[in-house]
Amino acid sequence: MNARETLKINKKGHLEIGGADCVELTEKFGTPLYAFDEAYIRKMMRIYRDTLYNEYGEKGLVLYASKAFSCKAIYRIADEEKIGVDVVSGGELYTALRAGFPAEKIYMHGNNKLDYEIGEALDCKIGCIVADAYSEIDKIDAEAKKRGMKQKILLRINPGVEAHTHAFVQTATTDSKFGFSIQDGTAEKASIYALSKENVILEGYHCHIGSQIFEKQSFVIAVEKCMRFAADMKEKHGFVMQTLNLGGGYGIWYTDEDRKISPEGYAEYLQALISAVKEKAKENGLKLPYLLIEPGRSIVGEAGITLYTVGAIKEIPGIKTYVAVDGGMFDNPRYALYQSKYTPILANRANEECTEMVSIAGKCCESGDLIAVNVSLPKAKSGDILAVLSTGAYNYSMAMNYNRNLIPPCVLVKDGQAEYIVLPQTYQDLTRNDVIPTRLQKK
Ligand code: LLP
Repeated sequence: MNARETLKINKKGHLEIGGADCVELTEKFGTPLYAFDEAYIRKMMRIYRDTLYNEYGEKGLVLYASKAFSCKAIYRIADEEKIGVDVVSGGELYTALRAGFPAEKIYMHGNNKLDYEIGEALDCKIGCIVADAYSEIDKIDAEAKKRGMKQKILLRINPGVEAHTHAFVQTATTDSKFGFSIQDGTAEKASIYALSKENVILEGYHCHIGSQIFEKQSFVIAVEKCMRFAADMKEKHGFVMQTLNLGGGYGIWYTDEDRKISPEGYAEYLQALISAVKEKAKENGLKLPYLLIEPGRSIVGEAGITLYTVGAIKEIPGIKTYVAVDGGMFDNPRYALYQSKYTPILANRANEECTEMVSIAGKCCESGDLIAVNVSLPKAKSGDILAVLSTGAYNYSMAMNYNRNLIPPCVLVKDGQAEYIVLPQTYQDLTRNDVIPTRLQKK
């Protein structure tokens, strides 16, 4: 197992997260269970925040990309750590506000924001909206006018950078539903359009090239292209970019095929971006923009694990052994969507040698409902506790009720003590919104 500071194996041979024995966690909270180490989350937020302030002065803000994991507690942590957040829907915005997160430190994204979402953002006096289409510029302008206000916006631009990641999580190649392309001139046209609007204030630009990216160079190239574009806009139209948001996307460790970056190591990604911004500002005669970054996965991903109980084990001689758990694609759809890889560990026998190659199956009625394929484990038996590592990002936030399975609860561990931050769903929750029309009611 990789030496990850949030995880340890204790004297009983049990896996620990944040100082809590995972077997004890499952005895107390049941399975499946998402468990998060608060110290790791805070450490990541601080590393980004301190690096930005130390290297760039307080002329910028770290935004936690809350799509990675959204619930009230995470917004409280982000607020306590004095960073901002980005939200991508009315639902995330509502959650942040209900957690008491200051609206002025919230940025709103999305490639097709709905009228009511824009209305909600304006009503709470959100810090900034990142516009992604002409129709959005129109809507923000109209809604701001109705309210007698001016709204700060950024335009999402697409620098056309090919980053090495799964196609579905790549966002800034020319064929993307996100952003105005620099290359084909739409970013320039959209800027002029936004500048012509009375009730929006164009502050600058946003770009996000994709997720789970390890190559620093991809980020640096994106910076270069954005800065070059900003220089063009200044030369051609006299528009001075005040703000540049460089998105998120830094990769994390899922298996030993991935690079293992220490929390401190992520500072280097930000340092590379900052150096590129400074260098390109100088080269292009631009003033230094207010700088934003939006890491999501790298803040919560390695901070979280999922704990399951092993159930049925199916050995198909000469083919495969399926170890089925009490979760599946309803708590982690990432294998089904992206063939993502994960590292499982038997949490109750974490010291034992791996002797078998197995696939971890979920309990949904779907052959593709797998969590990890061809992974090594000690010989598993029914009742074992299986931990899947690095599930803190895009697991709970992408969970669903397929087959009317219950979305697992989340606990937050601090100094070995765990508390709920998301309660278990109940069967009543599942049927809460179901309605039986009178004509179908049982007579
Ligand atoms: N900013 C914007 C505009 C984004 O679209 C994203 C992620 C982020 C920031 C945060 O990126 P991160 O630091 O987390 O890589 N469901 C996929 C990931 C989708 C990412 C979408 N955008 C997955 O499970 O891999």
